[in-house]
Amino acid sequence: MTEKDFLPAPYQHFSKNGKVTWKAPSNIALVKYWGKLANQIPANPSISFTLDACATTTTISYQKKEGNTGGFSFDLLFEGKPKTDFKPKIETFFNRIADYVPFLKEYDFTIETSNSFPHSSGIASSASGMAALSLCLMEIEKQLNPEMDEMFFSRKASFLARLGSGSACRSVEGDLIQWGKHPQIPSSSNLYGIKYPFEVNPIFKNYHDTILLVHKGQKQVSSTVGHDLMHGHPYAEKRFQQAFDNLDNLKSIFAEGNLQDFIKIVESEALTLHAMMMTSMPYFILMKPDTLEIINKIWKYRSESKVPICFTLDAGANVHVLYPESVKEKAIQFIQDELVAHCENGHYICDRIGVGAKKIMGKK
Ligand code: DP6
Repeated sequence: MTEKDFLPAPYQHFSKNGKVTWKAPSNIALVKYWGKLANQIPANPSISFTLDACATTTTISYQKKEGNTGGFSFDLLFEGKPKTDFKPKIETFFNRIADYVPFLKEYDFTIETSNSFPHSSGIASSASGMAALSLCLMEIEKQLNPEMDEMFFSRKASFLARLGSGSACRSVEGDLIQWGKHPQIPSSSNLYGIKYPFEVNPIFKNYHDTILLVHKGQKQVSSTVGHDLMHGHPYAEKRFQQAFDNLDNLKSIFAEGNLQDFIKIVESEALTLHAMMMTSMPYFILMKPDTLEIINKIWKYRSESKVPICFTLDAGANVHVLYPESVKEKAIQFIQDELVAHCENGHYICDRIGVGAKKIMGKK
């Protein structure tokens, strides 16, 4: 599909008002998206586990405007309170998607949003937030164009979400989502995420992600700034090629359930992401001493116990500890005995691979 396919046909009718609610999960990348071109086109393909517990729930109430003022009209409530500092981000998002959802200018909106995880946890909510918002907008569009099929609904929701935040396009469906054109993945696209189309061994079902909250403060570098630092980065081209190769190599690893090789790719991707930040200009170290302590303890434990537990990182100090369902008890025991001491106030979140976003309500 191309961008043009997401431009809607003229709407058949306009509802006067209504209310829709969607809940969208966060996701954790195994092969990382880091570096982008214009219009939120990724510099390399990526793949992620959709999560389950970490999610954003968004409700949009809409009311047809009396006259068309030409601009966007919306109020924003975050966890029940007006949140003016989120408004510019939504305004930018609306500007980017206006051609694809022209009804945006026809209504007054109230957007209410809340996260399942504490705001202060240092977990980014942009992926789940932009996905939930996009799904609500698609729910409204579906009311204006009722014959829309499910496949188009999800694709366009992912397409819109990407224009809000790249990784958000991987937060619409589950459980393993790939985004970015890859020559060996036939239906892959730079415009939206797809369900991973190849065989996946059952060992990856119910995979766990325990998120260790090492540092809950604001991120030192926003991902937008981080992506930008890949322009002119001395190692950028090699890094992008590595992501393509890692996706190639994952094909047989996913099919065979080869956890040893899975772990090598996942941990290498996490460290490469941070290596890119350490070697950009300006340069950053986003890991904290506790991040490194945790990584070393995971390596020691894995080599001694042979339990296939590994880590990945996002663009911050928190550590995602990944392990299959079959070693759940051992892994949790190890995390509690050895790793929780490195978390800020001992806080961590138990999450696992999930099935994707859910409609909570959609009525006229
Ligand atoms: C390190 O999707 O947050 O989490 O497109 O600028 O909103 P924008 O960036 P964002 O970048 C995510 C980067 C990452 C890796 C990943 O999720 O693939």
